[in-house]
Amino acid sequence: MLDTLDELRTRFVIEGGRSLTGAVSAPGAKNAALPIMAASILAAGEVVLHYVPRITDVDVMAAILESLGARVREHSGGTLVIDTSSLDSYCPPYALVSKLNASFDVTGALLARFNRAEVPQPGGCVLGPRAVDLHLAGFQRLGAAVSLEHGSVVAAGATLEGADVELGQPSVGATKNIMLAATRARGTTIIRNAAKEPEVADLAGFINAMGGCVRGQGTPTIRIDGVRKLHGCEYTIIPDRLVAGTYLLGAAITAGDVTVTGIDPGCLHALCRTLKTCGCELTTEGASVRARGVASFRPVDVSTGPYPGFPTDLQPPLVAYLSLAQGTSHVEESIFDARFVYVSELARMGADIKVSGRQAIVKGVEKLKDAVVEAPDIRAGGALVLAALAAQGTSEIGGLQYIDRGYEFFEERLASLGASIMRASVVAPVQPRTDMGDTMQMPKVVTPFSA
Ligand code: EPU
Repeated sequence: MLDTLDELRTRFVIEGGRSLTGAVSAPGAKNAALPIMAASILAAGEVVLHYVPRITDVDVMAAILESLGARVREHSGGTLVIDTSSLDSYCPPYALVSKLNASFDVTGALLARFNRAEVPQPGGCVLGPRAVDLHLAGFQRLGAAVSLEHGSVVAAGATLEGADVELGQPSVGATKNIMLAATRARGTTIIRNAAKEPEVADLAGFINAMGGCVRGQGTPTIRIDGVRKLHGCEYTIIPDRLVAGTYLLGAAITAGDVTVTGIDPGCLHALCRTLKTCGCELTTEGASVRARGVASFRPVDVSTGPYPGFPTDLQPPLVAYLSLAQGTSHVEESIFDARFVYVSELARMGADIKVSGRQAIVKGVEKLKDAVVEAPDIRAGGALVLAALAAQGTSEIGGLQYIDRGYEFFEERLASLGASIMRASVVAPVQPRTDMGDTMQMPKVVTPFSA
């Protein structure tokens, strides 16, 4: 992981105004890979995972598994071998768990394997509080006692019993964690109002590949029949619909022509429908989606929602796109409390966006202008990169430690589509400016990315 000064020194330098054109393949899905890695705890054997994205969140999840006693090695690019046979701890350290929200997925798996898990409670993040009450209520329904001790959630139950669990909302995290905990419970667990996201269904597919028995994934009712033991397996992660969607929005915002290959078009339905409403041309063929953007396009009103609704993770890149529409769009965020935090950075590029609570009014402007901006989270980073690709002039984007959490080889893939993008490093020392308080002055040398 980068240290703080390195993070400040590393930026994308993007010369805007070039249309993205060509084909790009979708990498493996972060939000499937992370829980599947956590679920390898259940195998008590060797798991071989293919199509694992090369992103820093995967590195952190690997470090968490290692901290519990697992052996993790990269066999070849994108293939991880995880051996959890010698796992001897159910207490991952806060220093690692606090790096990513998905680390809490280990709780259900540890509970199923050891009948006990002690996992630091996830704090909030820039998107909002990230509550886990539904996860904990689910564990309790399965018979575990749950308490908070020294900042960690402690879940323990001598035997877990299958139960009927109704979720107050279709939480992705709670569905995954309860599904994991129920895999070895005695009897049958039904999760009602479950999350239908493809990544949740992929986790169920992986559990089944280990000898588990999960049915109904992808629907609101998931049934898990507990089994005594799970075993190692070989499994291929699904492609990342959110990264794929970011490239399609890249075509839209630069009036380009991009085909994303290796992706199920069905999982991008809400995005494709939205882009068509704006005037983009969308075509699908087999496992590929092609988006052709137009210079002048219509605004649209969108509300994010659980799958198959418009994905909250594509809301920031969509807003970047709509900031150049011929008119006013209304965007409602229905999943996270604070998912418009990046809007102030887009405004520094000339976007005209007013946010009130979970609503944003996006008035299209004629052009975006270059600026030095800072990404506050993964998807906001994607949005700022797209804005910079469309803007006039040369922009600098910081906060790459967030972008690198979710976008594999982002600059290489964008460059292959014709973008002018480089990872820049500052080699001179960072010195506080005397005339601007603690604002940093950062003399820099730009180095081209290495493949
Ligand atoms: N919530 C509760 N109580 C709970 C669980 C959730 O109130 O017990 C609330 C959360 O506070 C949040 C909302 O419900 O406001 C959504 O939470 P959910 O559990 O559905 O999402 P998550 O598991 O925290 C995953 C993805 C997110 C994605 C959301 C929604 C992973 C690792 N993360 O988060 O992805 O936005 O589902 O689809 O799968 C990202 O990839 O950048 C990202 C943030």
